[in-house]
Amino acid sequence: MHLRHLLGIQGLNPVSVTAMLDLAENYVLLNRSGKTQRDLLRGRTLINLFFEDSTRTRTSFELAGKRLGADVINMSVSTSSVSKGETLLDTAATLNAMNCDLLVVRHNQSGAPALLAQKVDAAVINAGDGMHEHPTQALLDALTIRRHKGRIAGLTIAICGDIAHSRVARSNLLLLTMMGNFVRVIGPPTLIPAEIAALGVTVHHEMQEGLDGADIVMALRLQKERMTKGLVPSAREFFAFYGLSAEKLTFAKPDALVMHPGPMNRGVEIDSEVADHPTRSLIKEQVEMGVAVRMAVLDTLARRPRWNG
Ligand code: CP
Repeated sequence: MHLRHLLGIQGLNPVSVTAMLDLAENYVLLNRSGKTQRDLLRGRTLINLFFEDSTRTRTSFELAGKRLGADVINMSVSTSSVSKGETLLDTAATLNAMNCDLLVVRHNQSGAPALLAQKVDAAVINAGDGMHEHPTQALLDALTIRRHKGRIAGLTIAICGDIAHSRVARSNLLLLTMMGNFVRVIGPPTLIPAEIAALGVTVHHEMQEGLDGADIVMALRLQKERMTKGLVPSAREFFAFYGLSAEKLTFAKPDALVMHPGPMNRGVEIDSEVADHPTRSLIKEQVEMGVAVRMAVLDTLARRPRWNG
Protein backbone atom coordinates (compact mmCIF):
# COMPACT_ATOMS: atom_id res chain seq x y z
CA MET A 1 0.00 0.00 0.00
CA HIS A 2 1.48 3.35 -1.05
CA LEU A 3 0.10 6.12 1.08
CA ARG A 4 1.77 9.54 1.13
CA HIS A 5 -0.46 11.08 3.83
CA LEU A 6 -3.53 10.01 5.80
CA LEU A 7 -5.93 12.93 5.45
CA GLY A 8 -9.26 11.12 5.48
CA ILE A 9 -11.09 7.89 4.80
CA GLN A 10 -11.89 9.29 1.36
CA GLY A 11 -8.28 8.55 0.36
CA LEU A 12 -8.66 4.82 1.20
CA ASN A 13 -10.44 1.85 -0.39
CA PRO A 14 -11.62 -1.54 0.98
CA VAL A 15 -8.28 -3.17 0.13
CA SER A 16 -6.18 -0.51 1.86
CA VAL A 17 -8.49 -0.47 4.90
CA THR A 18 -8.24 -4.26 5.22
CA ALA A 19 -4.45 -4.12 4.86
CA MET A 20 -4.26 -1.44 7.57
CA LEU A 21 -6.46 -3.45 9.93
CA ASP A 22 -4.43 -6.61 9.31
CA LEU A 23 -1.22 -4.74 10.10
CA ALA A 24 -2.81 -3.23 13.22
CA GLU A 25 -3.76 -6.74 14.35
CA ASN A 26 -0.04 -7.58 14.48
CA TYR A 27 0.52 -4.52 16.64
CA VAL A 28 -2.25 -5.57 19.04
CA LEU A 29 -0.32 -8.81 19.61
CA LEU A 30 3.00 -6.96 19.95
CA ASN A 31 1.54 -4.52 22.48
CA ARG A 32 -0.08 -7.28 24.51
CA SER A 33 3.24 -9.14 24.60
CA GLY A 34 4.89 -6.06 26.15
CA LYS A 35 7.48 -5.97 23.36
CA THR A 36 8.33 -3.05 21.07
CA GLN A 37 9.71 -2.73 17.56
CA ARG A 38 12.04 0.19 18.01
CA ASP A 39 14.08 -0.45 14.89
CA LEU A 40 11.18 0.40 12.55
CA LEU A 41 11.16 4.19 12.98
CA ARG A 42 14.64 4.64 14.46
CA GLY A 43 16.04 7.97 13.28
CA ARG A 44 12.61 9.25 12.24
CA THR A 45 10.97 12.24 13.90
CA LEU A 46 7.27 12.45 14.67
CA ILE A 47 5.75 15.78 15.74
CA ASN A 48 2.33 15.94 17.38
CA LEU A 49 0.91 19.35 16.46
CA PHE A 50 -2.41 19.72 18.27
CA PHE A 51 -4.34 22.98 18.04
CA GLU A 52 -7.25 21.39 19.95
CA ASP A 53 -7.32 19.41 23.18
CA SER A 54 -6.91 15.65 23.12
CA THR A 55 -6.32 12.81 25.54
CA ARG A 56 -6.65 9.62 23.51
CA THR A 57 -5.38 10.62 20.08
CA ARG A 58 -2.32 12.57 21.15
CA THR A 59 -1.23 10.06 23.79
CA SER A 60 -1.72 7.08 21.52
CA PHE A 61 0.25 8.67 18.67
CA GLU A 62 3.03 9.38 21.17
CA LEU A 63 3.00 5.79 22.44
CA ALA A 64 2.76 4.42 18.91
CA GLY A 65 5.73 6.48 17.74
CA LYS A 66 7.84 5.54 20.76
CA ARG A 67 7.03 1.84 20.50
CA LEU A 68 8.28 1.95 16.91
CA GLY A 69 11.46 3.84 17.88
CA ALA A 70 10.69 7.33 16.54
CA ASP A 71 11.82 10.52 18.23
CA VAL A 72 8.48 12.01 19.33
CA ILE A 73 7.93 15.70 20.00
CA ASN A 74 4.66 16.97 21.45
CA MET A 75 4.21 20.60 20.52
CA SER A 76 2.10 22.53 22.94
CA VAL A 77 0.41 25.19 20.84
CA SER A 78 -0.33 27.39 23.86
CA THR A 79 3.39 27.69 24.67
CA SER A 80 4.59 27.85 21.06
CA SER A 81 4.99 30.91 18.84
CA VAL A 82 1.45 30.33 17.57
CA SER A 83 0.41 32.30 20.66
CA LYS A 84 2.50 35.22 19.28
CA GLY A 85 0.59 35.19 16.00
CA GLU A 86 2.64 32.78 13.87
CA THR A 87 0.42 31.32 11.17
CA LEU A 88 -0.34 27.64 10.64
CA LEU A 89 1.71 27.58 7.44
CA ASP A 90 4.71 29.34 8.99
CA THR A 91 4.59 26.95 11.94
CA ALA A 92 4.53 24.02 9.56
CA ALA A 93 7.38 25.45 7.45
CA THR A 94 9.44 25.81 10.64
CA LEU A 95 8.84 22.20 11.65
CA ASN A 96 9.57 21.10 8.09
CA ALA A 97 12.96 22.82 8.22
CA MET A 98 13.81 20.56 11.19
CA ASN A 99 13.42 17.52 8.90
CA CYS A 100 10.31 16.18 10.56
CA ASP A 101 9.20 12.88 8.97
CA LEU A 102 5.69 12.47 10.35
CA LEU A 103 3.41 15.36 11.28
CA VAL A 104 0.27 14.52 13.24
CA VAL A 105 -2.15 17.45 13.11
CA ARG A 106 -5.37 18.28 14.95
CA HIS A 107 -7.00 21.59 14.07
CA ASN A 108 -10.41 23.19 14.49
CA GLN A 109 -10.53 24.14 10.79
CA SER A 110 -11.67 21.51 8.29
CA GLY A 111 -8.98 21.04 5.66
CA ALA A 112 -6.03 22.31 7.75
CA PRO A 113 -4.08 18.99 7.55
CA ALA A 114 -4.71 18.82 3.77
CA LEU A 115 -3.35 22.34 3.38
CA LEU A 116 -0.23 21.45 5.37
CA ALA A 117 0.26 18.30 3.30
CA GLN A 118 0.73 20.52 0.24
CA LYS A 119 3.41 22.56 1.97
CA VAL A 120 5.61 20.14 3.92
CA ASP A 121 7.81 17.20 3.06
CA ALA A 122 6.65 15.20 6.07
CA ALA A 123 3.85 12.66 5.85
CA VAL A 124 0.80 14.38 7.35
CA ILE A 125 -1.74 12.49 9.45
CA ASN A 126 -5.11 14.06 10.16
CA ALA A 127 -5.81 13.65 13.88
CA GLY A 128 -9.16 15.45 13.56
CA ASP A 129 -9.96 18.58 11.55
CA GLY A 130 -13.02 20.60 12.48
CA MET A 131 -16.22 18.81 11.51
CA HIS A 132 -14.52 17.07 8.59
CA GLU A 133 -12.70 13.80 9.40
CA HIS A 134 -10.91 11.79 12.08
CA PRO A 135 -9.65 8.85 10.01
CA THR A 136 -7.62 7.01 12.66
CA GLN A 137 -10.69 6.96 14.93
CA ALA A 138 -12.73 5.26 12.18
CA LEU A 139 -9.92 2.75 11.59
CA LEU A 140 -9.64 1.88 15.28
CA ASP A 141 -13.43 1.55 15.50
CA ALA A 142 -13.40 -0.79 12.51
CA LEU A 143 -10.64 -2.90 14.09
CA THR A 144 -12.59 -3.11 17.36
CA ILE A 145 -15.75 -4.18 15.55
CA ARG A 146 -13.93 -6.74 13.39
CA ARG A 147 -12.29 -8.33 16.42
CA HIS A 148 -15.69 -8.84 18.08
CA LYS A 149 -17.97 -9.62 15.16
CA GLY A 150 -15.39 -11.47 13.06
CA ARG A 151 -16.03 -9.21 10.06
CA ILE A 152 -16.46 -5.61 9.08
CA ALA A 153 -19.17 -6.09 6.45
CA GLY A 154 -22.87 -6.84 6.48
CA LEU A 155 -23.41 -5.41 9.98
CA THR A 156 -26.11 -2.98 11.05
CA ILE A 157 -24.44 -0.10 12.84
CA ALA A 158 -26.37 2.70 14.53
CA ILE A 159 -24.58 5.99 15.25
CA CYS A 160 -26.51 8.13 17.75
CA GLY A 161 -26.42 11.74 18.83
CA ASP A 162 -24.66 14.79 17.43
CA ILE A 163 -23.96 13.68 13.87
CA ALA A 164 -23.84 17.21 12.47
CA HIS A 165 -20.73 18.35 14.33
CA SER A 166 -18.90 15.04 14.51
CA ARG A 167 -15.82 14.29 12.43
CA VAL A 168 -15.87 10.82 14.03
CA ALA A 169 -19.34 10.24 12.58
CA ARG A 170 -18.25 11.39 9.14
CA SER A 171 -15.14 9.18 9.00
CA ASN A 172 -17.10 6.23 10.34
CA LEU A 173 -19.93 6.68 7.83
CA LEU A 174 -17.45 6.77 4.99
CA LEU A 175 -15.49 3.74 6.17
CA LEU A 176 -18.40 1.57 7.30
CA THR A 177 -20.52 2.12 4.17
CA MET A 178 -17.46 1.58 1.94
CA MET A 179 -16.88 -1.79 3.66
CA GLY A 180 -20.49 -2.87 3.01
CA ASN A 181 -22.28 -2.25 6.30
CA PHE A 182 -25.77 -0.86 6.85
CA VAL A 183 -25.32 2.42 8.68
CA ARG A 184 -28.09 4.31 10.46
CA VAL A 185 -27.82 7.70 12.09
CA ILE A 186 -30.17 8.59 14.95
CA GLY A 187 -30.70 12.01 16.48
CA PRO A 188 -32.88 15.10 16.52
CA PRO A 189 -33.32 16.88 13.15
CA THR A 190 -31.20 19.78 14.47
CA LEU A 191 -28.19 17.44 14.85
CA ILE A 192 -28.41 15.54 11.55
CA PRO A 193 -27.36 17.35 8.35
CA ALA A 194 -30.04 17.20 5.63
CA GLU A 195 -27.61 15.95 2.98
CA ILE A 196 -26.38 12.97 5.00
CA ALA A 197 -28.61 10.40 3.26
CA ALA A 198 -26.49 10.96 0.14
CA LEU A 199 -23.67 9.13 1.98
CA GLY A 200 -25.72 5.92 1.87
CA VAL A 201 -27.06 5.92 5.41
CA THR A 202 -30.62 5.86 6.74
CA VAL A 203 -31.82 8.65 9.02
CA HIS A 204 -33.91 8.06 12.15
CA HIS A 205 -35.22 10.47 14.75
CA GLU A 206 -36.50 7.83 17.19
CA MET A 207 -34.11 5.58 19.12
CA GLN A 208 -36.48 2.58 19.10
CA GLU A 209 -36.80 2.65 15.33
CA GLY A 210 -33.09 3.34 14.67
CA LEU A 211 -31.75 0.74 17.11
CA ASP A 212 -34.07 -2.04 15.98
CA GLY A 213 -31.88 -5.03 15.03
CA ALA A 214 -28.57 -3.13 15.37
CA ASP A 215 -25.35 -5.14 15.87
CA ILE A 216 -23.35 -2.13 17.03
CA VAL A 217 -24.53 1.03 18.75
CA MET A 218 -22.15 3.99 18.73
CA ALA A 219 -22.95 6.97 20.97
CA LEU A 220 -21.49 10.42 20.24
CA ARG A 221 -20.86 13.41 22.46
CA LEU A 222 -22.76 16.67 22.00
CA GLN A 223 -20.01 18.85 20.46
CA LYS A 224 -21.05 22.07 22.17
CA GLU A 225 -17.75 23.74 21.24
CA ARG A 226 -18.81 23.60 17.56
CA MET A 227 -22.43 24.70 18.03
CA THR A 228 -23.05 28.34 17.17
CA LYS A 229 -26.53 28.26 18.72
CA GLY A 230 -28.51 26.07 21.11
CA LEU A 231 -29.57 22.99 19.14
CA VAL A 232 -30.88 20.87 22.03
CA PRO A 233 -33.22 22.19 24.74
CA SER A 234 -31.17 20.73 27.63
CA ALA A 235 -28.78 17.89 28.41
CA ARG A 236 -31.49 16.28 30.53
CA GLU A 237 -34.02 16.32 27.72
CA PHE A 238 -31.42 15.06 25.24
CA PHE A 239 -30.68 12.12 27.53
CA ALA A 240 -34.38 11.31 27.87
CA PHE A 241 -34.81 11.03 24.08
CA TYR A 242 -31.37 10.05 22.76
CA GLY A 243 -29.17 9.03 25.71
CA LEU A 244 -28.10 5.40 25.43
CA SER A 245 -29.55 3.70 28.52
CA ALA A 246 -29.90 -0.01 29.30
CA GLU A 247 -33.59 0.33 28.50
CA LYS A 248 -33.00 1.78 25.03
CA LEU A 249 -30.26 -0.78 24.33
CA THR A 250 -32.94 -3.52 24.49
CA PHE A 251 -34.21 -2.20 21.12
CA ALA A 252 -30.97 -3.43 19.49
CA LYS A 253 -30.00 -7.10 18.98
CA PRO A 254 -29.53 -9.03 22.24
CA ASP A 255 -25.79 -9.29 21.51
CA ALA A 256 -25.40 -5.70 20.32
CA LEU A 257 -22.17 -4.03 21.43
CA VAL A 258 -21.71 -0.45 22.56
CA MET A 259 -19.02 1.99 21.44
CA HIS A 260 -18.10 5.61 22.14
CA PRO A 261 -15.03 7.46 20.79
CA GLY A 262 -14.61 9.50 23.98
CA PRO A 263 -14.54 11.81 25.74
CA MET A 264 -17.86 10.72 27.25
CA ASN A 265 -20.43 12.89 28.96
CA ARG A 266 -22.10 10.38 31.24
CA GLY A 267 -25.79 11.00 31.75
CA VAL A 268 -25.99 13.03 28.52
CA GLU A 269 -25.37 10.76 25.51
CA ILE A 270 -24.70 7.56 27.46
CA ASP A 271 -25.60 6.11 30.85
CA SER A 272 -22.83 4.74 33.09
CA GLU A 273 -24.59 1.38 33.33
CA VAL A 274 -24.14 0.94 29.57
CA ALA A 275 -20.72 2.62 29.26
CA ASP A 276 -19.22 0.40 31.97
CA HIS A 277 -21.00 -2.83 31.04
CA PRO A 278 -18.39 -5.60 31.41
CA THR A 279 -19.30 -7.55 28.25
CA ARG A 280 -21.24 -5.19 26.00
CA SER A 281 -19.15 -2.03 26.21
CA LEU A 282 -16.11 -1.87 23.91
CA ILE A 283 -15.10 1.63 24.98
CA LYS A 284 -11.88 0.69 26.79
CA GLU A 285 -10.92 -1.69 23.99
CA GLN A 286 -11.36 1.14 21.47
CA VAL A 287 -8.63 3.00 23.33
CA GLU A 288 -6.32 -0.03 23.21
CA MET A 289 -7.00 -0.47 19.48
CA GLY A 290 -6.14 3.20 18.98
CA VAL A 291 -2.50 2.56 19.80
CA ALA A 292 -2.28 -0.45 17.47
CA VAL A 293 -4.00 1.33 14.58
CA ARG A 294 -1.75 4.37 14.95
CA MET A 295 1.32 2.10 14.92
CA ALA A 296 0.01 0.59 11.68
CA VAL A 297 -0.54 4.04 10.19
CA LEU A 298 2.97 5.23 11.16
CA ASP A 299 4.47 1.97 9.86
CA THR A 300 2.62 2.33 6.53
CA LEU A 301 3.56 5.97 6.01
CA ALA A 302 7.17 5.37 7.01
CA ARG A 303 7.52 2.86 4.19
CA ARG A 304 7.54 5.67 1.64
CA PRO A 305 11.04 6.90 0.73
CA ARG A 306 12.44 9.56 3.01
CA TRP A 307 12.04 13.04 1.56
CA ASN A 308 15.83 13.55 1.63
CA GLY A 309 16.65 10.02 0.51
N1 CP B 1 -11.68 10.18 20.34
C1 CP B 1 -10.83 11.23 20.45
O1 CP B 1 -10.43 11.83 19.45
O2 CP B 1 -10.47 11.54 21.72
P1 CP B 1 -9.47 12.73 22.12
O3 CP B 1 -10.17 14.02 21.80
O4 CP B 1 -9.23 12.55 23.59
O5 CP B 1 -8.22 12.58 21.31
